[in-house]
Amino acid sequence: LLKAPSHLVLPALETNVGFAILAFVATAYLIPALGENFIKIGLKGRDLLKTYDDAIPECQGLICAAVYITLLTLFIPFPFSSFLTRERDYDVEGLAGGDFPHQQLATYLSALLSFMAATMLGLLDDLFDIRWRYKLPIPIIASIPLLLVYYAEQGLTTVVIPIPLRKLLGTVVDLGPLYYVYMSLLSTFCTNAINILAGVNGVEVGQALIIACSVAINDLLYLPWPYTLRLGSRELGGEWGAGLAFGSKELVERHLLSLYFMLPLIGVCSGLIFHNWYPARAFPGDTLCYFAGMTIAAAGILGHFSKTLLLFFIPQIFNFILSCPQLFGIVPCPRHRLPKLNKVSMLLNNSEADLSWEKPSVLRDIVLRTLSFLGLTRLTVDPKTNKIKSCTNLTILNVLLIWFGPTTEEALVVRVMLTQCAGSALAFFVRYGVAGFVYDG
Ligand code: UD1
Ligand code: MG
Repeated sequence: LLKAPSHLVLPALETNVGFAILAFVATAYLIPALGENFIKIGLKGRDLLKTYDDAIPECQGLICAAVYITLLTLFIPFPFSSFLTRERDYDVEGLAGGDFPHQQLATYLSALLSFMAATMLGLLDDLFDIRWRYKLPIPIIASIPLLLVYYAEQGLTTVVIPIPLRKLLGTVVDLGPLYYVYMSLLSTFCTNAINILAGVNGVEVGQALIIACSVAINDLLYLPWPYTLRLGSRELGGEWGAGLAFGSKELVERHLLSLYFMLPLIGVCSGLIFHNWYPARAFPGDTLCYFAGMTIAAAGILGHFSKTLLLFFIPQIFNFILSCPQLFGIVPCPRHRLPKLNKVSMLLNNSEADLSWEKPSVLRDIVLRTLSFLGLTRLTVDPKTNKIKSCTNLTILNVLLIWFGPTTEEALVVRVMLTQCAGSALAFFVRYGVAGFVYDG
């Protein structure tokens, strides 16, 4: 006799992989199909590094975000399927609920809320060009639900001190509320850091794609490998059985959750890069930068690996630190810092910030001469007065042009992508290689 199953378990990880493929197909199809509609309402831009003047649909990250959020919403029942179909447990007051993993549902929903907030911010930025002083705090507010969930999960606020510094600081330092400040800054960093490493075709979405792949690879390392598919099919709060080779049930669940966020992100970014690669037929806009940055930050915060996550942002950290003198007004910051096209050679050259009309500033001179000494900017100096007349814009794109010479746009974006891959390789080495020497256990 066939016995009816007591409850149905929907395959969550397999479904997520399927949704990621669907995300790719939907984005790759919708971007050219909807491009004209974006142009009609004025969401268009000119490719500044081309000789032609065609209008290119801007803000295509909105299509990515819409596809992504829709799929993640449809995905909600899957990790919880066994609880939805199981006979309900009733507690003493007769309320249904029993062992339903409310905590995990709250975690998932808080992430969706922050993705929506980030998408809204990005869209507003594309529509109104929001000023920096407003742009910075908004992702911090959007990360509050994530932080509260982290708190409710009794997330660690301690940092393990490397062995050489232990005599000075002890083995573990509890940062307490400061750790929450750090995590909220992480969300604003991830969103804005992607947005300022921009300007050549494919670079915004390409970096998001490589970071998302790196996070996904890191997550896969935590799944109990020989059994991954079988165990991954089970619900988030389910029984994992005995014999997890690589860590506790919670650790596996957190990385599985992060994987559920990353795979569809890889899908939408792959769909967009297909149209944004040189020569671009679509621009991602700020919407993509904010939405992808927040998704990656949420994966790091809710997966409890925010420090490892930062390692995948090595090129962005470098670009951000290098950009600080321009972002904070020490050196003038033109509206666009992307490289300049030489229309004769058709190669990209360094773009420059003009300082000839600026009042003298000792701080600016020290900063620029130091950066020039380090090979991070090139200065034009008046030979008579020794005054700095201009400097190349302080971005990683310009640094790559200084170090390796003028090149085509496509070759430059390949250089940036290789730098990003090298950054991820270094991150894995630091996390799993060097960490063993600096930390014990
Ligand atoms: C950020 C950068 C800015 C850079 C710009 C390019 C900082 C502080 N800001 O500004 O220096 O010039 O991104 O995206 O570092 N565009 C291209 N080719 C591309 C991508 C964009 O020509 O491959 C141009 C298009 O005209 C497009 C516009 O850049 O319409 C979009 O710029 P936007 O994203 O609004 O610039 P920001 O993010 O404010
Ligand atoms: Mg932008």
